[in-house]
Order: sequence, then structure tokens, then C-alpha cells
Amino acid sequence: MSTNKFLIFTNLIQANLTTKVFGNEIEYLTFTDSTNEDVWESLENDIDEGFLCITDNQKKGRGRRGNNWLSEPGASLSFSFLIKPQISLEKIGLISLLAGVSVVEGISKFTNLDCKLKWPNDIIINKKKVGGILVESKQFNGDIFVVIGIGLNVNEQELPLEIVENATSLRLEKKSPIQREPLLASILNAFESIYNVDYKKWIELWNSHCLHLNSDVKFHHGNEIIQGTFLEINNMGQAIININGNNQKFSTGIIELP
Ligand code: BTN
Repeated sequence: MSTNKFLIFTNLIQANLTTKVFGNEIEYLTFTDSTNEDVWESLENDIDEGFLCITDNQKKGRGRRGNNWLSEPGASLSFSFLIKPQISLEKIGLISLLAGVSVVEGISKFTNLDCKLKWPNDIIINKKKVGGILVESKQFNGDIFVVIGIGLNVNEQELPLEIVENATSLRLEKKSPIQREPLLASILNAFESIYNVDYKKWIELWNSHCLHLNSDVKFHHGNEIIQGTFLEINNMGQAIININGNNQKFSTGIIELP
């Protein structure tokens, strides 16, 4: 009896790539704790920029702000890849925005779904979260390396109780199953083409894909909940929110949609 429905075929990812660097080398793990952690471990073995690690069974996925990330074997996409950015240190934070743009563009191109970004890089369809991005950076042998980890709900037909209210999957939105390998390739293709343009274009693209541009939002900042109008992100990736007539800049915080 075939168990293929639980496999991800790396040759099918590569067949759909148009990249020069990203996805040249792919490590496929039948199960693992966290693909971000696996890429960091592989760095010790002298891997190149673009190295991709993917699993079909991530057991201890890490989310942002110390949260766990849940993936369903046979349904989700959980992958991480390495970059060695040639940009100044203060712009490293913008990479997480670039990653968000490429996920939205890769999904939209492959599925035709209307996919949007919630600041800083939640992937949203019909006001529900369909994916998230965890970007980590480290200095290693004098160079800065960044690992981009992407988790997407792809073919889930039901979601865990703890997230069901605010989460969805591509299959639930599209009402048909989605092939994961070409979807992943579409995201990497988008990433490489945007990575190679000036960072100001990343900001412009991010603003164009934002779900809540010029919208009233509730903003959780530290212990405060602030009401304001989300105007845009600036060239540092900070959220510009108009609060009682004053434009204020924020580097951290959580947007709550109405
Ligand atoms: C979020 O909290 O929104 C970010 C979730 C990121 C999850 C992905 S799944 C692949 C990679 N490996 C991890 O442990 N986390 C990221």
C-alpha cells in the first residue's frame, strides 16, 4: 500500500524552481523538531546561501514571540532556508518583511487566492491567518547569517481547536487541494527575484500587499491597547500609526483587526 500522500518530493520542488541560488540544495527530513534549528545545525557543515530544509512532520515548530507552531503531517508546509545578506546590519530586520512579501506573491501566483499581510508578516486570507514566518539571525565566523522559517496551512481540512477561530488553510479557502511542492517553489522564486532588488522596493511591495493600510486598528504595544489608523511602514520597517492626529512609529506590537 502506498504511503506517498505523506511525502514531499524534493525533485518536484526543484523542477518548479526558476532560481539561481535558493533551493539548489535541499535537505528533506521525514520528521524533525524544527527546520529553523536544522538549518542552524547545518551551518556547521559549510552550507551555501539558499540551502533549504523541509520536513513533512515538524514536531516542535517554533513561532514568533516564543509561541509554538503546529503543523499537520501530510497537509502543512514547514520549511526554512539560509541567507547571507549583503545589506547593512540595521536593515537585517527588513528581511522578515521581504519574506512576507514573497510568501504572499508566491501563494497568490500559484493559487489565485487573495492573500494579504498583517504587520509585520502574518499571512492572511479572508481575515484569517494561513501562515507565519520566523526570521532568526546569527553571527558565525564573522559573517551574519539569517534563517527564514515559513509555516503554511495548506491542505488542512480542519484546524486545531486552539487556533480554529482565527486560522484557515489554503485548501479551505480555495475549496480544492493544493500541491505543496510547486507552491513552495513559487514562494522561493518570488523570494529570489525580490531579494535582488533595492530594499526600498521591498517596502513599497509590503505596503501594496498590506491588509490594513489606512484602516483603523487596535494596536497592542507592551501593556497598552491603542486605537489608531495604520498609515504604512517606513523605510526602517516601522509601523506608522496615526493616534489622535499624531503619527507615531512602532518597531514592535500586535495589530488586532476589527
Ligand atoms: C509565527 O509565529 O507566525 C511564525 C511561525 C513560523 C513557523 C515556521 S514552520 C518552519 C520553521 N520552523 C520552525 O520551527 N518555525 C518556522
